[in-house]
Amino acid sequence: MSETNQAFDHSLVFNPSPEVIARARIKDWDAVKAAADADPQKYWAECASELDWYQTWNQVLDDSKKPFFKWFVGGKTNIVQNAVDRHAESARRNKLAYIWQGEDGSERFMSYGELAHDVNKFANVLKGLGVNRGDRVTIYMGRVLELPIAMLACAKIGAIHSVVYGGFSVDALRGRIQDSQSKVVVTCDGAYVSGKHIDLKDIVDAALYTDPPTPVKDVVVYKRTGKEVRMFNEENRRDHWWHEAMNAASSVCETEVMDAEDPLFILYTSGSTGKPKALLHTHGGYSVYTYATFRAVFDVQEDDRYWCAADPGWITGHSYIVYAPLMNGVTSVVYEGGPSYPAPDRWWSIVAKYRVSILYTAPTAIRGLMRFGADWPKKHDLSSLRLLGSVGEPINPEAWRWFYENIGNSRCPIMDTWWQTETGGFMITPTPVVPLKPGSGTRPFFTIKAEIVDDQGNAVPPESEGYLTILQPWPGMARTIYGDDQRYADTYWSRFPGRYFTGDSARMDKDGYYWIIGRVDDVLKVSGYRFGTAELESALVAHPAVAEAAVIGLPHEVRGNAIYGYVLLRTGHKDSPELREALRNHVAKMVGPIAKPEKVEVVDRLPKTRSGKIMRRLLKARAQGLPEGDISTLEE
Ligand code: PRX
Repeated sequence: MSETNQAFDHSLVFNPSPEVIARARIKDWDAVKAAADADPQKYWAECASELDWYQTWNQVLDDSKKPFFKWFVGGKTNIVQNAVDRHAESARRNKLAYIWQGEDGSERFMSYGELAHDVNKFANVLKGLGVNRGDRVTIYMGRVLELPIAMLACAKIGAIHSVVYGGFSVDALRGRIQDSQSKVVVTCDGAYVSGKHIDLKDIVDAALYTDPPTPVKDVVVYKRTGKEVRMFNEENRRDHWWHEAMNAASSVCETEVMDAEDPLFILYTSGSTGKPKALLHTHGGYSVYTYATFRAVFDVQEDDRYWCAADPGWITGHSYIVYAPLMNGVTSVVYEGGPSYPAPDRWWSIVAKYRVSILYTAPTAIRGLMRFGADWPKKHDLSSLRLLGSVGEPINPEAWRWFYENIGNSRCPIMDTWWQTETGGFMITPTPVVPLKPGSGTRPFFTIKAEIVDDQGNAVPPESEGYLTILQPWPGMARTIYGDDQRYADTYWSRFPGRYFTGDSARMDKDGYYWIIGRVDDVLKVSGYRFGTAELESALVAHPAVAEAAVIGLPHEVRGNAIYGYVLLRTGHKDSPELREALRNHVAKMVGPIAKPEKVEVVDRLPKTRSGKIMRRLLKARAQGLPEGDISTLEE
């Protein structure tokens, strides 16, 4: 298991202020928790009844085929009905859904009515390209509003979107297009990030130029930057400009009536072995779960201006930039670019300009901005903020305090939300009235039953470290790994039979608060992004000079973890600074710039067990000068 972080103080408590309690919708957290835990199905049915259904469910939970749970069985809905249609047909029609800030200073304001209009049009564009219910569409775009529009258009017609984060490179994108067998790719000419131009369309072209060919027949290109790109028009492939296709499309489109359990999207995430897994989420349960968790945790009201600074290409963006805020009819801010471009107060200027009331971000971003000092936020009026949020990795006490004092002016509670791509939404999280302990996500959300266990699956006593498991299903859980039910059952439900295994280690303190320690599998969190050591190692091994590779994460002040690679060279190749640099760049090119190793070292041998498994734990201990621990399985 991972090392202990002694810096966390389990006794430090921040109580909510009378103002926070006065405003909160849920005032008695313990009472709601007790009632919800006593009857989870009743709790979720009540949440579900706040949404529109074309037909009500006849069974809240079907657990007859574990671990393949079904929620709201028999119910008919479509997430777009709840996220867009119902607002566009109501008094919220002219309320802003999104305020968009481009990195170059441009702005857009989009009402729910305008969003509905564009979603309808793009849904018709997709239909015109032959996209049907159940077909997959890969979306690979920068942070523009056309990204949520494309996602919603897919959902509207019952197609399954597969968003690939715009920071991934050619091979990562190609792998995800091939695995999902997408028919269409939606992209941009390019994206602006921290003053750089990312050539998204060129990357798509390179990804699709492959043998065997991908099933992609059409590519739709949104013009964001105006950089010249090549538009292909060949026998097997057509490129279309977004604006031309939209001009020709009708703005009338029926929303498909979907079964509660019909797939809504797949999203790839890294696991400990093999290729990234496509987690599948559904229309019904995912709608209810993200809608209700968002409402309770951020306690959103009509006048809120909410900003989740993540990227829509990750689960945080799917759930809490696109679907949950829209279902709640909230106005969201979306910012296109890098946090400190052109100056370290870019974010704070956005908070002040749009009067943001809720800011949800990641510890790595806080640590990054903290480096520039508190004078930058001080230059701006941040008094509109009332609530802060954190996600992606444990927030260290120093970053918590900086965020709390300098951004929240010591009056905004921080919602530290623990969850995963697999869980769909928040799992361990406070709501505004819950007393906070810096570094803890506090307690499991309503109905969520968590338990920390030892190797044998027995609950460990308070304050002891163990594996974090979840005992009961919840509506937002991923239903499977797309196309691989067995892998889903094996990965999540077999280590501790009958329980969901999170892959994290944690401790529960005497007050029942949970403290996440970190991943116990070969998954690395780097700047909050999730990578499998296996995918990074296979990128290294794909280089002609490399025979074998091992990758570990080592603590990094800003990024949480930094990637370190150890390689054995093939005969005929010699260690040199140039080669090591080339290997770092090679990983960045294969996987993405965000995966560029901090350092690659050439070694003569890799520590392995007698059965040939690389002992990454040992590499890590050696690199940090820590005790090597049990090395009885080490091959001499
Ligand atoms: O290790 C936990 C960490 O992020 C992992 C999930 O990563 P991903 O699927 O990419 O989703 C990230 C956004 C939901 C978890 O297994 N993690 C996430 N949130 C927290 C966290 N660790 C500690 N505290 C958190 N709040």
